[in-house]
Amino acid sequence: MTHAERQPRRLLVTGGAGFIGSNFTRYWCDRYPGDRVVVLDALTYAGNLANLEGLAETGNFRFVRGDIGDRALVDTLFAEEQIDTVAHFAAESHVDRSILEPDAFVRTNVVGTFTLLEAFRHHLANRSDANRCRFLHVSTDEVYGSLAPDDPPFSETTPYAPNSPYSASKAGSDHLARAYYHTYNLPTVITNCSNNYGPYHFPEKLIPLMCINILLGKPLPVYGDGQNVRDWLYVGDHCRALDTVIHRGQLGETYNIGGNNEVKNIDLVRTICRLMDEMAPDLPVKPSENLITFVKDRPGHDRRYAIDSTKLQTSLGWQPSVTVEEGLRKTVRWYLDDEDWWKPLLSEEYQSYYAQVYGE
Ligand code: NAD
Ligand code: TYD
Repeated sequence: MTHAERQPRRLLVTGGAGFIGSNFTRYWCDRYPGDRVVVLDALTYAGNLANLEGLAETGNFRFVRGDIGDRALVDTLFAEEQIDTVAHFAAESHVDRSILEPDAFVRTNVVGTFTLLEAFRHHLANRSDANRCRFLHVSTDEVYGSLAPDDPPFSETTPYAPNSPYSASKAGSDHLARAYYHTYNLPTVITNCSNNYGPYHFPEKLIPLMCINILLGKPLPVYGDGQNVRDWLYVGDHCRALDTVIHRGQLGETYNIGGNNEVKNIDLVRTICRLMDEMAPDLPVKPSENLITFVKDRPGHDRRYAIDSTKLQTSLGWQPSVTVEEGLRKTVRWYLDDEDWWKPLLSEEYQSYYAQVYGE
């Protein structure tokens, strides 16, 4: 199908004011300007309207503040906007917060996803074109648990073994999305992606936290021995993968998404230090590596994640395009240039969270 032959879609993007959701919304509005894009976001601590700045001026975009668990609101939006495609990002997403306060994770990730699925099921009952509609459920590789050093990477058939309240709540939502396909024929597709990084990443996560702490001359807290491994994917590559899955993914299927970029945490932090030393005009502490501090490990800390995305690559032709070195360079540049974006996020709420996790 060429771009010109494509029938416009009407999207509901949940969690579109968060990190990946806002990158996806920007990507989509830019690539498909004829599509209607409605963002539904509760604007929790992680949601930020600044992430969507500039989009309101494009006629096809609408922002609605609200909770995915509010059935009446979701029903109204589906009907009023004649939504045919849901891109579901809204979630509580940070493992450390799920350890401190798991309640919201069950409420939003499990019950909220259930509410959306139910509302979409009823909405589609009234439509004659249900087979071109889509419910994209965006999930994580963390549902598969932890790998030993020599284990093969996670594939779509790896059994679920979540270890944190965050990953357990995402696993629950994945099972619901799958069940709605098998039971009700709801056109769901599930993606499980590895760790993302890039612009608009909230400061509590590893990469932005390190960038910002280097700029502020604060300690760089590395959990445990720093040997945990994550498989990093640049957020723009994730957005392209989701575009591919929405348009060409098989209904009821799961696709793993990853960059083939396994890196130990300590090596990643050292790379960020090197790039900051090279790219920042002046830093409070140099070399930045002097700020690295090993701190108490996270409870239940998964040792290694690695994703096998062969299925997506061979069946749908997606490939990651950004190497870790390139992606980190772009990301460091973004945090250097966009101080006005991240400074307001270091709020009282953030400081109090920070003190709980890292101590005073
Ligand atoms: P994020 O925390 O940056 O953003 C989440 C967004 O959801 C925020 O804007 C928040 O306001 C909104 N939200 C939270 N609860 C809500 C509710 N009840 N109703 C409406 N909106 C609500 O998260 P992210 O990193 O952008 O992750 C997006 C999705 O991708 C999540 O489902 C996450 O599990 C998944 N994922 C993330 C990664 C990653 O590395 N960040 C990797 C794989 C998958
Ligand atoms: P994070 O960005 O929280 O993502 P996730 O836990 O979902 O993988 O953390 C990435 C890795 O970095 C993880 O192994 C935990 C580690 N980490 C630290 O060592 N120090 C930190 O301050 C943070 C936030 C994470």
